[in-house]
Amino acid sequence: MAEDLAIITGNKETQYQSLIPQIKGLLEGETDLVANMANVVAALKEQFGWLWVGFYVVKNEELVLAPFQGPVACTRIKKGRGVCGSSWASSTTLIVPDVEKFPGHIACSSLSKSEIVVPVIRNNEVVAVLDVDDEKYDQFDITDKEYLEEIVNLINF
Ligand code: SME
Repeated sequence: MAEDLAIITGNKETQYQSLIPQIKGLLEGETDLVANMANVVAALKEQFGWLWVGFYVVKNEELVLAPFQGPVACTRIKKGRGVCGSSWASSTTLIVPDVEKFPGHIACSSLSKSEIVVPVIRNNEVVAVLDVDDEKYDQFDITDKEYLEEIVNLINF
């Protein structure tokens, strides 16, 4: 595919529907996991302009920072800690409209106001999480949950 991403305007659903075939194109024929995570976070950041988009991968019982776009971030998160560690522990997507109201939220950037974390589950185990933060409150909803879950499932972890 062309290397330039086609960025479109419109509602969230329209944006995801434009992005998903392009993400499939970016992943096609590439088996390297880091390369694939890197292009997926870049594509999401380009289309949506969120503050921070990135993966943490499970390594030796911790989440370790993986490809991301946005401000520098904490490198290791323990199971059950913060939104990411809670998503890992519960194997569920967590939508946080106001991060200050989430007990134990880990503030990597003081600019972050809302967050969604999607676990990547393979063989019934969480192998990574996709974390997205934004500078505005209440930026994530069920539409993001559905499409982001679909997108992480396109990657061969
Ligand atoms: N806020 C996350 C930590 C990761 S950063 O936002 C990039 C959390 O509470 O798990």
